[in-house]
Amino acid sequence: MQTTTESHSLEVTGKTLTMADIGKLQPPFVLAPLPYPAASLEPALDAKTMEIHHDKHHQTYVDNLNKLIADKKDTKDLQTIITTLTGKEKGIKNNAGGHWNHTFFWTLLSGDKEKTKMPDRLKSEIESTFESVEKFKEAFEKAALAQFGSGWAWLYRDGSGKLAITTTGNQENPLMDVATVKGRPIFTVDVWEHAYYLGYQNKRADYLKAIWNVVNWVQVDAYDKEVTAH
Ligand SMILES: [Fe+2]
Repeated sequence: MQTTTESHSLEVTGKTLTMADIGKLQPPFVLAPLPYPAASLEPALDAKTMEIHHDKHHQTYVDNLNKLIADKKDTKDLQTIITTLTGKEKGIKNNAGGHWNHTFFWTLLSGDKEKTKMPDRLKSEIESTFESVEKFKEAFEKAALAQFGSGWAWLYRDGSGKLAITTTGNQENPLMDVATVKGRPIFTVDVWEHAYYLGYQNKRADYLKAIWNVVNWVQVDAYDKEVTAH
């Protein structure tokens, strides 16, 4: 039997999540633990960065979102919140986006060599769009570096189902009804300074190069299968 806390949180340890699982999260939102030990992504991402990023930054988005929606009777699950932002205050967009984006991001990282090996199906999808995995990485890094200030870089399926790369500012995400670029994300990298400053200072390019060592491609492949199935 589930406890109340479990029904509001996301247990990600040891299983492949779906995007639908993230969307079904209900208020009041609860910060789920990282799906792996904070030190397990070293040396690419150090434990202290992961702890502060998750325990402080992500927790703040969750707390702020709960406060902002506490008196709103029409508030439903996280998917509904991020897809019906028109007319809502900017704080809800920032904090609901912060919760969705970070929850998604944690699942996309792993120190497990079985998970960081790209499945053949995804490899061939990436090659058919970007020519090679290396060219995809170059294009992704270039876009992520060009994002001015805080934001996210995304690999997503666009309206025609094609794989594409984009970036968003602050906590915007392509699923939002108010997003500048809309689509179905399958992978993202947080390019806020809080994601890399302790380990890399201002060197975002070095952080981007290192993060490829800890991408959970098995999870990216699962998200891609999920979004292309609908
Ligand atoms: Fe972040």
